[in-house]
Amino acid sequence: MKVIVTKNYEEMSALAAKEFAAVIQNKADCVLGLATGDTPIGMYRELVAMHEKNGLDFSKVSSVNLDEYYPITPDNDQSYRYFMNYHLFDHVNIDKANTNVPDGTAVDPDTFCRDYEAKIDALGGIDIQVLGIGRNGHIGFNEPDANGLIPDTHLTDLTANTIEANSRFFSSMDEVPKQALTMGIHSVFKARKIVILASGEGKADAVRAMLAGKITTTCPASLLCIHPDVTLICDEAAYSKV
Ligand code: PGA
Repeated sequence: MKVIVTKNYEEMSALAAKEFAAVIQNKADCVLGLATGDTPIGMYRELVAMHEKNGLDFSKVSSVNLDEYYPITPDNDQSYRYFMNYHLFDHVNIDKANTNVPDGTAVDPDTFCRDYEAKIDALGGIDIQVLGIGRNGHIGFNEPDANGLIPDTHLTDLTANTIEANSRFFSSMDEVPKQALTMGIHSVFKARKIVILASGEGKADAVRAMLAGKITTTCPASLLCIHPDVTLICDEAAYSKV
């Protein structure tokens, strides 16, 4: 894994955006693997600025997103579809028909997951995938599990901690989704290039575990060490325990 340590969140975001812009400039009809959460917001802001100032062209770009709550409707302001529209898609010239976020309203989630995996394959795989890392080392909603991980896109139960943490965004506990649809580690590995981002001291333990030199399903991010093209871009605070 290539490691780049930056001074701060802004520098991390700018570097990550540069990696994405290079792929888009090199291949107009590329496939972007996208993530939600606080970490990639700065990168999306940079990409929007590159579109507005330098005409970075998304017109032929496709995208696939890592995960989505289940169940949830796309117009819910806590859905990941809403997040993507708000932070990126509404501000660049991407055709929303070419953007894929797991469908939180799917009636048959198992069939949906199989189709989502097939969709990634039909697009020819992902050219560049951005990932955040959870404080517990998760990627997407692939939570640490000593008993193993499900490799492909699947429906997963959220842990009690995650439900509790998410409850602050919803008006009542009943409204907090208890499950999510997530790409698996194998789906993520279909990306030719992966950029994993980490910012802040809160991620320092997870970054240390990821780079500890051992791959283990108790730290899903550690599995990235066996992918041939992964770059960790993290700030000094996130790297402080390595
Ligand atoms: P964050 O989430 O970017 O909001 O820290 C990352 C993650 O949990 O994967």
